[in-house]
Amino acid sequence: MKITLHSPVDMHIHFRQDAMLSLVAPLSAQHFAGGVIMPNLIPPVNGVERLQSYTAEVLEAVKPHAFEPYMTLFFRDYTEQELAAAKPHMLGIKLYPAGATTNSEAGVREIGAMDRVFKMMEEQGIPLLVHGETHGFVMDREREFCAIYRHLATTYPNLQITMEHITTLDALRLLDEFTNLRATVTMHHLVITLDDVVGGLMNPHLFCKPIAKRPEDRDALLQAALAAHPKLMMGSDSAPHPIDKKECPGCAAGVFTAPILLPLLAELFARHGALDNLQAFTSDNARRLYSIDPPPKRVVLEDIPMTIPASYNTVVPMWAGRSIGWSVTEVV
Ligand code: NCD
Ligand code: ZN
Repeated sequence: MKITLHSPVDMHIHFRQDAMLSLVAPLSAQHFAGGVIMPNLIPPVNGVERLQSYTAEVLEAVKPHAFEPYMTLFFRDYTEQELAAAKPHMLGIKLYPAGATTNSEAGVREIGAMDRVFKMMEEQGIPLLVHGETHGFVMDREREFCAIYRHLATTYPNLQITMEHITTLDALRLLDEFTNLRATVTMHHLVITLDDVVGGLMNPHLFCKPIAKRPEDRDALLQAALAAHPKLMMGSDSAPHPIDKKECPGCAAGVFTAPILLPLLAELFARHGALDNLQAFTSDNARRLYSIDPPPKRVVLEDIPMTIPASYNTVVPMWAGRSIGWSVTEVV
């Protein structure tokens, strides 16, 4: 079996900086025509100058691959002028509740106090990307945040809101309720549950925010992805951390999947007889929802087995050492 994908895009990636950027950016750029680059650096990408300098670093790191970085700004209390100046250089603004995840300490403490910014973003047509977790009990954080999504979607009907890396049936249901909501979902949340993280021996390489949930959540997300739900986009949330930050007490949150995304997705969609929908899930839905036009790239995948490497330099990928049934055989 064989499938050709046209310009797949990864709608949620962490590229980091410096040596980590040089290591991971080519691993995405070899298979993807573009991706949404997250701004949770230290310090965060929260001004137009920093946005432009980070864009230049990313463009340097993806060479010589054709790869369009869709940049994001870290949400804060921006002025109207700051928003207007940043708009041409980015896809949207990413909101993190303070402390919700890696490098989010500078995030929002009181979402209700940000009405002015949401209003201006709505008026200027700037999409809002959201890490949707409260500070409640870990398994309930996303479900609790759904009330905030409802509030935002209702109060700002013309604000395009992306629920990033959804992990629950509750969040999935919101997609059909509000026209201005869309979502990304990771590959790993389609295949793992909390049991894979802590149900047996603890696996730090599957620990991420939001934490993987219940089998019924995973199954609902998988069905929606396999059906290429028109408001759902593949966003890997590939989040590399050096091995000593993962295999230690106080393990950092993040699953590294960039180099194995397309083979694993092809295997998954083939197993469920849904290969025809992989193009929409990994590219067409995102292009339509964001009106983006990534550079041409043809990626051929075949059911030729490969073994997931034990590591990529300092970073251990999801399912390291496991053998999978599909691989990328050609990129043009
Ligand atoms: C991400 C990271 O490491 O930057 N971690 C994660 O567990 N997903 C941040 C994020 O997207 O939450
Ligand atoms: Zn992320």
